[in-house]
Amino acid sequence: MKKIAVLTAGGDCPGLNAVLRAVVKTAINDYGISVLGIKDGYWGLVENEMQHLSFEKVSGILTLGGTILGTSNKADPFRFPVKKKGKITYEDLSDKAIENCRKRGIEALICIGGDGTLTVANKLIQKGLKIVGVPKTIDNDLSGTDVTFGFDTAVANATEAIDKIHTTAMSHHRVLVIETMGRYAGWIALTSGVAGGGDIILIPEIPYDIKKICERVKERGRRGKRFSIIIVAEGARPKDGDIVVSRIVEGSPEPIRLGGIGQKIGQEIEKRTGIETRVAVLGHLQRGGTPTAFDRILATRYGTHSVHLLKQGKFGHMVALKGQRITSIPISQAIKKLKLVPLNHPLIQAARSVGTSFGD
Ligand code: F6P
Repeated sequence: MKKIAVLTAGGDCPGLNAVLRAVVKTAINDYGISVLGIKDGYWGLVENEMQHLSFEKVSGILTLGGTILGTSNKADPFRFPVKKKGKITYEDLSDKAIENCRKRGIEALICIGGDGTLTVANKLIQKGLKIVGVPKTIDNDLSGTDVTFGFDTAVANATEAIDKIHTTAMSHHRVLVIETMGRYAGWIALTSGVAGGGDIILIPEIPYDIKKICERVKERGRRGKRFSIIIVAEGARPKDGDIVVSRIVEGSPEPIRLGGIGQKIGQEIEKRTGIETRVAVLGHLQRGGTPTAFDRILATRYGTHSVHLLKQGKFGHMVALKGQRITSIPISQAIKKLKLVPLNHPLIQAARSVGTSFGD
């Protein structure tokens, strides 16, 4: 193998650059393989926008958030946006993407991404491309791996924000509702909520009852606790209701964007308890900035292992963490279903033991 290419697709997350650095250095150092970086995820694959990644290009990027390659969550080669007469239409340009690889002498691809990116990768594999996947997402919702890189940093960012919000909530005797990301999984809310000492944590896996939430807030008041911290995952929903959708992103492999549940809960709590309530949506700050040491190490291990997998001919596989060990599983298995928080997860049990309510 002489030449491979790498892309980062979908929402960015801390640690992407650490993976890129590891891929390029391993490819050159261990195997003498040269690496092309594809611009803006699958967009660059279709539009043939690529650049050579030298040692110099990846030097000094280990600690950088984001991705030096850029990314896109609206460039599915099988449903690619094409502007015709001022109107966007969607076309299957997967053959063009494959032809670009052939023309450039790219023998295999490393696709760094989450559920959507790897679903597209799986379709390209079926059309003959040799691909290895690297699981990326702050949401930690990919099956087959214990952890995705980016999650630990998102939790650290969210926890820091919760700590800051805690002090102002105490001073003003308010209820503070903090909305985290995470899509349909409650990993970020649960983990940062426990780390930040949240009084109530609401996750999609445990539909909540607003009466129970208000009762807990009032009960805290009776015990002299005149403030409450509520961490709510963007995908949380009431027992008798639905998730809140904030927008639909046309052309995205996963078009639904969640958001707004924090505001809804905040208004309800203020109305029902009479306690002044504020809402903070943490949003994209969870996804930005310097990766934690844990994520830098995981990203480095994933990056190096992905190149070893290519060399071993383990195409169609995704690198994964199992306990302390880096291993791999078929991409088709990883994308089968989302990894949600199991209801018997030890962190849920520990949180309940220290008095945290899940609104159920
Ligand atoms: O999947 C990562 C994620 O940050 C989710 O937690 C969130 O729902 C979504 O992406 C936000 O997407 P966008 O960057 O398109 O707003």
